[in-house]
Amino acid sequence: MRAALFSGKITMSDELRTVWWEHGAVCLIDQLRLPHEQLVVRCESLEMVAKAIKTMQVRGAPAIGCTAAYGMALAGLLSAVPDTAGLLADLAAAKDVLDSQRPTAVNLAWATERMLTKARQFGTGTPRALAEALLEEAHAVLTEDLAMCHAIGDHGAPLIPAGGRVLTHCNAGGLATAGYGTALAPIRSAFAQGRSIHVWVDETRPFLQGARLTAWELHQSGIPLTLITDNMAGYMMKSGKVDCVIVGADRIVANGDTANKIGTYSLGVLARAHGIPFYVAAPTSTIDLSMEHGDLIPIEERSSDEVTHLSGQLIAPVGVRAAHPAFDVTPAALITAIITERGVVEPPFVAGLRRVKGGV
Ligand code: MRU
Repeated sequence: MRAALFSGKITMSDELRTVWWEHGAVCLIDQLRLPHEQLVVRCESLEMVAKAIKTMQVRGAPAIGCTAAYGMALAGLLSAVPDTAGLLADLAAAKDVLDSQRPTAVNLAWATERMLTKARQFGTGTPRALAEALLEEAHAVLTEDLAMCHAIGDHGAPLIPAGGRVLTHCNAGGLATAGYGTALAPIRSAFAQGRSIHVWVDETRPFLQGARLTAWELHQSGIPLTLITDNMAGYMMKSGKVDCVIVGADRIVANGDTANKIGTYSLGVLARAHGIPFYVAAPTSTIDLSMEHGDLIPIEERSSDEVTHLSGQLIAPVGVRAAHPAFDVTPAALITAIITERGVVEPPFVAGLRRVKGGV
């Protein structure tokens, strides 16, 4: 993908990549500038990659994972150490830097761990050869993520009823992954099959990933959508206008409890109250079996300025404090099923998640 491609009409399809490697740099679509400007960020140092993750120029659990994988490769290629032992130490330090940028999405640490493991398994060779092997691994992380998203689409599309009106939250689309998306994958696949579909897009305060990113992606792809504010979801459900909810995930733990964008838990409660199926769609890289239940998931606290300001404009009285937990945890009991690239997992989740995570 070249920056120039963004000057024309683009669609969030297989061809559009959110994250890519070009001429020694990690390139990203700047998600802070969408939907009005389609700009590319070139990260030429580990610090630039870390900053892009922290400031959410790139966001969405799988996309952060892919970016971090390239960040590790970049750190390896830029390292000036004379031997592989020194490079391994540099890579361990790079992992710490990247992991600390955003704590909730497990895909970040999953990807950096995969890269470090690859480095440790490297046999004899020069630091340069090791760094080049890491770049190949980062390409593999990206390619696999795209394939996983398509498989999630294949498994999830049949869950959407004919004429389905699907409510989604945040952005779990192509922009949040290597492409195609997780929560948006079943929607994309159903639409590609020629099925009639309509998407209710939660605006997703305070960062507006729904209004800015999901609405943009779906609109580009010609998939019918209606944007709503987050507090309209209950009304839409009570009015019989929602057939199912599909959301993404930042971390799914062993019992099925799922961290996702703040507001997801409220949707789970509402869906249960109205008897509406509530699906989580995520690749197995988002499953963290090391944690037993959701209370253990670290919840990122972001700046209160993101709540008190809209597009840089102060909307609250000067001096008012605001809270900003960026994620919440939906208990497994509220989740109808979890759609992964290896199939749909139904409750009880413990055995099913272990099966798909282990690939057996
Ligand atoms: O803070 P963000 O925008 O990174 O949060 C993103 C979400 O919560 C997504 O729903 C989740 O990462 C799934 S992305 C396929």
